[in-house]
Amino acid sequence: VSIIFVHADGTKKQVEAAPGTSVMQAARDNGIDEIIAECGGSMSCATCHCYVDEAWTDRTGERSDTEEDMLDFGEAEVRPTSRLSCQIEVSEALDGLIIHLPEEQG
Ligand code: FES
Repeated sequence: VSIIFVHADGTKKQVEAAPGTSVMQAARDNGIDEIIAECGGSMSCATCHCYVDEAWTDRTGERSDTEEDMLDFGEAEVRPTSRLSCQIEVSEALDGLIIHLPEEQG
């Protein structure tokens, strides 16, 4: 499954991720520095904040209430497409997913 990360300056990086892992994991495995993921995926740090491309928000689903609360604690601006990348599970349906990155966080 490929995921395309778009940096704040517009440059893109395409990575491969296995179904069942998370978008956060894919970012960490591939040196995407904007995704810090301090808590390692337990939804308690908000340094894995990312923006799902609008064409994909239907497929990545809704954020949960806890996720919503955590986003408010994060440093990056919260947008309607904001998600915690550790809460997006990679699946075949997300092949080609486009994720926009905040400038910096954490
Ligand atoms: Fe900490 Fe996602 S990795 S909230």
